[in-house]
Amino acid sequence: MKNKGLIAALLMGMGMTVQAQTHEFVIQTKKLGAEIQPTMYGVFFEDINFAADGGLYAELIKNRSFEFPQAFTGWKVFGKVSLMDDGPFNRNPHYVRLAPAGHPHKQTGLDNEGFFGIGVKKGEEYRFSVWARIPEGDTASKIRVELVNTASMGENQAFATQELAVDSKEWKKYQVILKPEETLEKAVLRISLVSPQSVDLEHISLFPVDTWKGYENGLRKDLVQALADLKPGVFRFPGGCIVEGTDLETRYNWKNSVGPVENRPLNESRWQYSFPNRLYPDYYQSYGLGFYEFFVLSEEIGAEPLPVLSCGLACQFQNTDESAHQPVDQLDGYIQDALDLIEFANGGTDTRWGKVRADMGHPEPFHLKYIGIGNEQWGEEYPVRLKPFIEAIRKAYPEIKIIGSSGPDSEGKQFDYLWGQMKHLGVDLVDEHFYRPESFFLSQGARYDTYDRKKGPKVFAGEYACHGVGRKWNHFHASLLEAAFMTGLERNADIVYMATYAPLFAHVEGWQWRPDMIWYDNLRSVRTASYYVQQLYSLNKGTNVLSLTMDGKPVTGADGQDGLFASAVYNKLTDEVIVKVANTSDKTQSIDFILKGMKKGERLSAGRRITLSTPDVYADNTLDNPSLITPREEAIQVSGQSLHVDLGPNAFAVYILKK
Ligand code: AHR
Repeated sequence: MKNKGLIAALLMGMGMTVQAQTHEFVIQTKKLGAEIQPTMYGVFFEDINFAADGGLYAELIKNRSFEFPQAFTGWKVFGKVSLMDDGPFNRNPHYVRLAPAGHPHKQTGLDNEGFFGIGVKKGEEYRFSVWARIPEGDTASKIRVELVNTASMGENQAFATQELAVDSKEWKKYQVILKPEETLEKAVLRISLVSPQSVDLEHISLFPVDTWKGYENGLRKDLVQALADLKPGVFRFPGGCIVEGTDLETRYNWKNSVGPVENRPLNESRWQYSFPNRLYPDYYQSYGLGFYEFFVLSEEIGAEPLPVLSCGLACQFQNTDESAHQPVDQLDGYIQDALDLIEFANGGTDTRWGKVRADMGHPEPFHLKYIGIGNEQWGEEYPVRLKPFIEAIRKAYPEIKIIGSSGPDSEGKQFDYLWGQMKHLGVDLVDEHFYRPESFFLSQGARYDTYDRKKGPKVFAGEYACHGVGRKWNHFHASLLEAAFMTGLERNADIVYMATYAPLFAHVEGWQWRPDMIWYDNLRSVRTASYYVQQLYSLNKGTNVLSLTMDGKPVTGADGQDGLFASAVYNKLTDEVIVKVANTSDKTQSIDFILKGMKKGERLSAGRRITLSTPDVYADNTLDNPSLITPREEAIQVSGQSLHVDLGPNAFAVYILKK
């Protein structure tokens, strides 16, 4: 190619126009390379950006148990409403008593604002449920439950109404179905006392009936569908920094997230305070989406569950003082939490935690294979804490693969130190995180080509995304560079076993961190270009790496490679060669695929190309225009053992060639 370049330059010097150079990609189809792990492309869920309550978790009521520090956060009360604290659920003891207002023209009741409003759709069903009792007397009490449009200029602001009789002095769960007559993104739930008797109400809840798989304590269907459509190989949860907590007290405590939802205690979110420019002092975790739900979800979307637990370090970004962390000689409780989690996931129903799982509805084990100890930890304080976890887990569960961290740096002293420590401690995978600018993604195509192949930990690219300089939000160009970078993950599938983009979810009114993969409001969701990049890799991951070179070198966007990045895989199951090419340049690139190693007379029989591109590279899909950038699939003509393609500027394409 170099000579061709020289000739082209000479011709141009002579004032003659030339065709763009054709690049030759030589793909060795005979010698299969490393197996691509089924876990290779996955998802990472963290409750950041209102990803759980207000997001994936379909509960529509904020502060349903009155346990927020200000007990009526999310509520507006009127008439005679008192807060009580001797309720039926010992870890959520608060409830409200509604007493008659004392005048025929006065009212008692309360409104809930939901998460940035309550989104409801016309004609769909919503299950209102409440634990209730009559505190005195024997006559039944009655409440009215309504969905209200407080902005309406109509005669009646309520657009769904039901009455519910509470007939017992004992706490009991009641429910009623609301069917709204209009679609509204920001409805209010109103409960009014309509009988002359008082009533006690606790755990006031509203869910769409149509959740993912119809579960009552369910998940938002459109959001889970987006995950399922990725066919993720691994599902990492529940964080992220929330695993660590702003302090140890607010770390994610998995044991608080299982058992009956009514009795899961509230936790303050680590993401309340982190960004003063995007402060959400009402950001709490109900734990309604807890570890049981995470495991079930992993199973249903076909991903290996990968829970991450606290190693005893409170968030290191937020705590510089050693005293914030659990002392190394007092880690027993934390280690026991990890062992108990494995028992919860895999233990027999005759074990303590296996029984909790069975009682929740899943007697079969979840077949947990991986566990992360610590999230994004660094410094000497990490390995010294990780060590006793590893010893205890290896002893009790030698089959479980342990994941350690290389911290927040993508390279440098700390990164090297931690990799050294991870090798020394013998973790199975090292979780690397890199939220980096364009220049990083453009220069790291060969990142893993030189990683140590000797026996040692494999790589989990556990959190990454291209954060554009001056454009730290979602746009196609960032996604394209992620696609380019991912050719290097794929080429190195012998050591890169897992990769998960981050963060996954964001509410348009509740985000702190962007870019993110999937955005939503109370009614709609949108898959970004980065989502489609992840999906194109995941759905076309193949079974084995194939060698792909240009001038004898991997195509990594190196100098002289015209901004091209490429990788190739073979799919044993379909006998297809799959080539992924990212053209990060502003010019159309002309490429010949030369398939070596095919038998004489063997030829390509069919071809498809799936392209992701857009004229405005700084645009992305939005809620109002969700299909601006989506993969476009077309058949391509193939014959023989080679193929010529022209790939437009700033484009990512997957070529699927059937032998
Ligand atoms: O994904 C957002 C945050 O980035 C995660 O919580 C943390 O692990 C990393 O710093």
